[in-house]
Amino acid sequence: MLLPDEQINSRIFVDIKYPAVLYKPVIIEQIHEEIEGFKTFTFKDGHDIEYKSGQYITFVKKAVKEEIRRSYSIVSSPQLNERLTIGVKRIENGIFSRELIDHAKIGDELVTTGAGGFFTLPEELSKIRQIFFLAAGSGITPIYSLLKTVLNFHPHIRVVLIYSNPSPQKTIFFSQLNELKQRFAKCFDLQFLFSNSMDLLMARLNRELLVELTKAHSVYSFDQTLFYICGPEAYMRMCTYTLQEQNIPKENIRKEDFVIHSKHLSKTAPPDKESHSVSVLYGNEVYQLKVEFPDSILQCAKKQNISLPYSCEVGRCGNCAAKIIEGKVWLSYNEVLTEKDLQTGLTLTCVGHPVGGDVKLKI
Ligand SMILES: Cc1cc2nc3c(=O)[nH]c(=O)nc-3n(C[C@H](O)[C@H](O)[C@H](O)COP(=O)(O)OP(=O)(O)OC[C@H]3O[C@@H](n4cnc5c(N)ncnc54)[C@H](O)[C@@H]3O)c2cc1C
Ligand code: FES
Repeated sequence: MLLPDEQINSRIFVDIKYPAVLYKPVIIEQIHEEIEGFKTFTFKDGHDIEYKSGQYITFVKKAVKEEIRRSYSIVSSPQLNERLTIGVKRIENGIFSRELIDHAKIGDELVTTGAGGFFTLPEELSKIRQIFFLAAGSGITPIYSLLKTVLNFHPHIRVVLIYSNPSPQKTIFFSQLNELKQRFAKCFDLQFLFSNSMDLLMARLNRELLVELTKAHSVYSFDQTLFYICGPEAYMRMCTYTLQEQNIPKENIRKEDFVIHSKHLSKTAPPDKESHSVSVLYGNEVYQLKVEFPDSILQCAKKQNISLPYSCEVGRCGNCAAKIIEGKVWLSYNEVLTEKDLQTGLTLTCVGHPVGGDVKLKI
């Protein structure tokens, strides 16, 4: 059932007073309909939002009970000095996407908690010789930014984009991608797959076709190759399993999930359920929390009206990532931090519980 338009609060873009340190306003400068039901929104310069290719920004909207947050991947490349731009697909009955697509106009102000996410390029790219990007539909958004950055600034890397859509007309950035293909002909393989294709073997990406395409396009060994996947849940699952079956190292496969289901919430309990003190340094403030299972660090902060960064709240987006300065944090679920991230002391407050004593965190 569709929500009637009048139930949408068209003032979400204005009149919101939030502490400036944590919440940043961005003003829409340009709106472009790329295909039906998908628009890009470019924001005016002057905001202080730093980001990396592959990251998203999270918007905040005041709702009756509590604020709601939605994340949108950034399609601009910071290295190319492009203006901050996001891509949004209209979701039938969606609160936020429908508001943006149907009602947002140039000059509107949105409130964001800034950029986040780990669907980014590694700091050290010298040993990486090839990157496969696997995208379906609006999953192209973070990949488009990564693709532009790699092609323009890392010429030693061969790039393959395998991009699934219903038809060329329903393909986001179709002409822009073809232009990139022409400009970077030597190092960029662009493989569109259209489900309306007469050639049924090249229509939908399935296990067999993915194995065939990775073999056909692979120039370097899999330990020198990264894979980035973004698309619908079933598509990402199929891609991940198929790549893992081919013995591609787990840490070389990166995924970005757009649809967050609460069913992913873990039912397991930490080894220590005692109450512990957690101090969180964030935005020049130190917040003191008393955290006790079943509340996570974030849930405890929310109960005390302390506004920390978050988006999915189920350990899948990385928006709530914090650095452990002291103590130990047990995670009930983690789909975003790699083994390496955990070793460097990163943790997630939304699914994090202090164990074995008090904890100090920095965001
Ligand atoms: C890290 C991250 C990055 C994201 N990047 C983008 C992006 O670049 N572009 C973009 O358009 N969206 C992106 N999303 C999804 C976006 O944050 C919202 O979830 C989406 O716009 C729906 O929000 P809504 O308020 O309109 O719908 P809601 O009111 O939250 O949901 C309405 C219904 O739609 C379902 N639903 C929610 N999201 C989707 C979806 N993506 N596809 C199909 N059904 C859905 C819900 O389960 C629910 O039943 C991203 C999400 C995450 C976590
Ligand atoms: S808020 Fe998404 S991982 Fe914690």
